Amino acid sequence: MTAPGLLRALRAIPKAELHLHLEGSIAPETVVRLAARHGVAVSPEDVAARYRSTDFLGFLDSYKWVTSFLRLPDDYRLIAGELFRHLRKQNVVYAEVTLSAGVMLRRNQNLAENFFALREASKEAAAEGLRVQWIFDTARQFGPEAAVETANWAARLAPEGVVAFGVGGDELALSARELLPAFECARDAGLRLLAHAGEIGGPEIVREAVEVLGAERIGHGLGALHDPALLDLLAERGLPLEICPTSNLRTGALARQLGGEGARLDRHPLKAFFDRGLRVTLSTDDPAMFETDLVAEYGAAAEMGFSSAELARLAEMSFASAFLPEADRESYLASFHERAAALGLL
Ligand code: ADE
Ligand code: ZN
Repeated sequence: MTAPGLLRALRAIPKAELHLHLEGSIAPETVVRLAARHGVAVSPEDVAARYRSTDFLGFLDSYKWVTSFLRLPDDYRLIAGELFRHLRKQNVVYAEVTLSAGVMLRRNQNLAENFFALREASKEAAAEGLRVQWIFDTARQFGPEAAVETANWAARLAPEGVVAFGVGGDELALSARELLPAFECARDAGLRLLAHAGEIGGPEIVREAVEVLGAERIGHGLGALHDPALLDLLAERGLPLEICPTSNLRTGALARQLGGEGARLDRHPLKAFFDRGLRVTLSTDDPAMFETDLVAEYGAAAEMGFSSAELARLAEMSFASAFLPEADRESYLASFHERAAALGLL
């Protein structure tokens, strides 16, 4: 298949997006508009400068900055509507979208009201062929009590489409032991469990996320590359690593994992993880901030040496790793196979 033909096929196959932060998906012009709504003058250049952070803590600071313009249900309705239209254009048919519920609570916002606006937007998206489930997350640096509070809110709103509880932010700021009460609370409520781990941190943080917290998928997990025994464990358990290549370049996470070596796509461990038999999924993380989209991430994987059949297998793994009832997952997988074969990817 020619390169443009491959990109067309990657655009056309039905896709699932499992690692995507709502607040990291706001187009620059929408940030300007939201800021103006709240009486703050922000120029497109301001947004560009914030979105161009090159180190991890700078990125977290930019993320905090952009969330400062999200206050009311209408703000959330606007960004969710825009995100869902953008996903539909790329033929994403299923998405698990992470909401920084911990940030909302920290800002003393009305979480239920804001979430109901999001829920409405996701119902509208479902009518257009995009099914959305929600993940509530907290940032490790907010501490253990904030984590429990977020987990409790996730449990309360589970009947409204919240399927999982997760943790992000600065993974070096709080240990798994300190997070355990929040994860227990989420697990007791029947929620699925996630953790960002091994993005900038080492293999021990990934291992603790799995063994202490019971995380069922790992956000990033790059740190596992330093520990062959951990890679074997992840492969044996079929525990997915949600890989976001462009994010790893833009936040400096890959450079940190490589000991400060020049980070480039061809040094990313995604292909090595895949070849070793790990379950890996491909995602965008914060697409607007990193100027990427899901089709571009598949294009990046092609540049890393994935054949078209391997790209199809990668896309399949996202459906296989979705927090969906078995029958729904099987149904997505069946239509995925049919389309991938028709497009000549399998
Ligand atoms: N929140 C949003 N994106 C994140 C990332 N890549 N790592 C940690 N926390 C995040
Ligand atoms: Zn993330």
